[in-house]
Amino acid sequence: MNQELLTKFLALYGGDASDVRMFVSPGRVNMIGEHTDYNGGFVFPAALEHASHIIVRKTDSGKIRLAATDLPDRVELDIEKLDSYKDLKWGNYQAGVAYVLQNHGYEICSCDILYHDTVPLGAGLSSSAAIEVVMALTLATFSNEAKGITEPVDMIEMAKLSQEAEIIYCGVNCGIMDQFASAMGKKDQAIFLDCKTLDFQYVPLVLDGYKIIVGNTKKKRGLADSKYNERRAECESALKQLQIAYPEADCLRAISVAQFEEAKHLIQNEVERRRAEHVVYECDRVLKSIEALNTGDLHAFGHLMTASHISLRDLYEVTGLNLDVMVEESLKIEGCIGSRMTGAGFGGCTVSIVADDAVDHFIEEVGKNYKERTGFTGEFYISSACDGGREVK
Ligand code: GLA
Repeated sequence: MNQELLTKFLALYGGDASDVRMFVSPGRVNMIGEHTDYNGGFVFPAALEHASHIIVRKTDSGKIRLAATDLPDRVELDIEKLDSYKDLKWGNYQAGVAYVLQNHGYEICSCDILYHDTVPLGAGLSSSAAIEVVMALTLATFSNEAKGITEPVDMIEMAKLSQEAEIIYCGVNCGIMDQFASAMGKKDQAIFLDCKTLDFQYVPLVLDGYKIIVGNTKKKRGLADSKYNERRAECESALKQLQIAYPEADCLRAISVAQFEEAKHLIQNEVERRRAEHVVYECDRVLKSIEALNTGDLHAFGHLMTASHISLRDLYEVTGLNLDVMVEESLKIEGCIGSRMTGAGFGGCTVSIVADDAVDHFIEEVGKNYKERTGFTGEFYISSACDGGREVK
């Protein structure tokens, strides 16, 4: 275990190192398939090296004590009153996960926890899902140990319970993508996930001669404040109207591009029609992306990524100046074959595919031009796909 983190834990909670353990769960970058998950659609995320870490020791205090390496806040959760921490500024995600696990029959164990996060907060790389999934994994591991269950924790279940916590406890009506990617990520692979059935397939994401560059616009976004829940409602309304033609379609993803073109006039409201158009075509782009990667056609994949951004900008309207400028500047660089916003939007990060020998120039030029045009100092990470939630022994 990381010695520095262990030292910090012991300074905070005392005792010795013998019974201290560490769990970790990563943030994610979504390569393509945006705002499709809550429409039963396809997504294609990969887990990142940036992660949320828990350093933890079981106790018998009846409490979960929480601290973090980068925050002064200290929080104590009473295990008997887990429903009462919804208004915490920090700690509500953790409390939400403990609450949901308890409701699902997990035995919540008292413990002292130190969080250490390397996922940039509010940057669209799923810092919240990472926090939730590592909490779920830790508490479920302890619950299994208390009950003498020897099977490993079911990580898909952890993803679902974490999503439930975010919806019912934190009030964000999110889809399953972020928690699933954080729980199920795999080194050098992205996850092609069907969000309706949760069937998934790992697809190699080692790109010969190219790197994945995540660009942080440093423009913060908040899911709850943003228009996220509004977009969801617009999609639901569009679906209802399309069901006049396709009563068997239970989500927007169930409607093909051809069917959509046939029936789109049924959607009365022009804005809702554009939202649905994005979702239907974006699902199709994910399928085409998998095909392109399977046949080694990286340029086709890059084009699909860029088309996804344009659709999110013009039809779904979740980009904004910072993301648009960063993508525009990225695409000006020779060697950048595709670029788009990733995550919920309204700020946060872009993801681009850039030729190995253009990476340095890309980071310098895009950074400079982005700053000139927006006044924001961007940040760039050369990323590769990493493993999902796990205990670090
Ligand atoms: C956020 C949500 C996800 C997904 C994306 C947009 O990250 O948590 O469920 O909807 O936005 O694709």
